Amino acid sequence: MKVCCRAPGKTIWFGEHFVVKGMPAIASSVDLYVRTRVEPNKNGKIRFWSKSLEKGFVYGEKEPDKELLPFKRILDLIREEHGELPGMKITIDSDIPISYGLGSSAASSISFAAAVLKYIGVEPSPEHVRRLSLEAEKIVHGRPSGIDTAISLRGGFIYYRGPEDIKPLNARWSNEYTLLVIGTGVTRSTGLVVKKVLERYERFPNIMGKIYEAASEITMTAKELMIEGDWIRIGELMNINHGLLVSIGVAIPETERIIHNSLRLGAIGAKISGAGMGGIVIVLVKKKDKEAVVDGITSFSNEIIEVEPGVAGLECRVEE
Ligand code: PMV
Repeated sequence: MKVCCRAPGKTIWFGEHFVVKGMPAIASSVDLYVRTRVEPNKNGKIRFWSKSLEKGFVYGEKEPDKELLPFKRILDLIREEHGELPGMKITIDSDIPISYGLGSSAASSISFAAAVLKYIGVEPSPEHVRRLSLEAEKIVHGRPSGIDTAISLRGGFIYYRGPEDIKPLNARWSNEYTLLVIGTGVTRSTGLVVKKVLERYERFPNIMGKIYEAASEITMTAKELMIEGDWIRIGELMNINHGLLVSIGVAIPETERIIHNSLRLGAIGAKISGAGMGGIVIVLVKKKDKEAVVDGITSFSNEIIEVEPGVAGLECRVEE
């Protein structure tokens, strides 16, 4: 028997950073996936291999490299819950660039946990997979907000205001539009960027408080417009949201060049997505204008990915 599970990456449309202080955010899944395959291993060992990192380990033998510790942690937890595990070959493969704000680590731990559970005969319930994945995420992020795990498991679009307030959002996505994810080429630590923003908040609490309230209004308005399917006005709100991200200090020349040029070339909305100070920019554009935007910004980025937002979350299949 062979088990294959895949989990999608994510993008944040509205509310990053503001969500850290309790404001609402909106995120969607995107059709970039991490896939985990589990198959029998006759010698009884548990062998793990990451194709994208070109690294692996044999469980229970020497300590794996740092990047692979989340996977070992999940195996430890499953073994504590279900006893000794059978021999298996586990292979993970990913289309999602790492350290960019596309949710690669959450999608990895979700597809991994679900595939191992299913292989040992335990049906992977969303709650069980979420718990295992969050434990693994703590090794990577310290204190993950949980938004990446929630969206990769559920898929679609979600409204998120902390782990206790997550709602699926029935966004009416239209094929007249497309979403571009554009890499700045600059990687950064989410934790450090969040710290910098919070320090600015401490220096100017009254001013920053007003900016955070405005961000909350943007997200609440965008939520309604997504349900209506008014993507032109959503694009405008993305631009306003980006202005607030500039004012809290997370823009850099690389993000601004991509955003200004995308808008100049006909995009409807463009903003930093995720922590900023590098990472990715998302650009909402009418399909008919896509080519002009892509052609015009290739001189600012060689990582332009067209994605489909709102795809299904975690999916598993078994091959006999
Ligand atoms: O890790 P990223 O780039 O997807 O950004 C996380 C979003 C923040 O709002 C900046 C932090 C958080 O914990 O929500």
